[in-house]
Amino acid sequence: MFITLEGPEGSGKSSQIGLLAGFLREQGYEVVQTREPGGTRIGDQIRACLHDVANTEMTAVTEVLLYAASRAQHVDELIRPALQAGKVVLCDRFADSTIAYQGYGRGLNLDNLHTLTRIATGGLKPDLTLLLDIDVERGLARRQVGGEEMNRLDLEAVTFHQRVRRGYHALAAAEPGRWITIDADRPVDEVQVDLCTAVLARLSRHQANPA
Ligand code: TMP
Repeated sequence: MFITLEGPEGSGKSSQIGLLAGFLREQGYEVVQTREPGGTRIGDQIRACLHDVANTEMTAVTEVLLYAASRAQHVDELIRPALQAGKVVLCDRFADSTIAYQGYGRGLNLDNLHTLTRIATGGLKPDLTLLLDIDVERGLARRQVGGEEMNRLDLEAVTFHQRVRRGYHALAAAEPGRWITIDADRPVDEVQVDLCTAVLARLSRHQANPA
């Protein structure tokens, strides 16, 4: 089963996904934890280029093609083989980030982005997507306090991140069967309980009724 975590900056995805992977392993699942951009040797090189704050001249089209290139490599090299081997794949961001950030955030044409996504993923879609939702200003402040690495997109205006968050809400509303929205503006352990409960319920349904 393919599970993705999405959300605005500072939603705590990265810590939550590590805890969730640990919990699922304790339950006996074989779990592959990965992230985008990155997840492969080539993807990590693309990630470094995408996130380098010195790359101020990068155009929106270059940016989206690099995210898509990282994804194509990731799906073929890591995600699809792991799913075929019956593992649970937990991915920190996937194609929905492209629609939210490059579509709603940067204003690139959504139909083109869907086509590009289909090319990059070969049509692979997550079975479940967890949206860790948080107010944009709260999230950005949390990121700074947490002392996390700042990337090119963190440096965008608050209005950019507000458009991204609205994008996520639109995506979640359009596919309610795939998305579960979790309020991330709470203590880590409370968010974790909700995540684990949602994922376990979906995993048992998936096992009883594989697609
Ligand atoms: P993160 O590892 O801190 O989540 O950083 C990834 C950054 O890349 C984050 O700012 C969101 C951005 N991003 C996109 O803009 N488009 C994409 O398709 C993906 C996967 C990430």
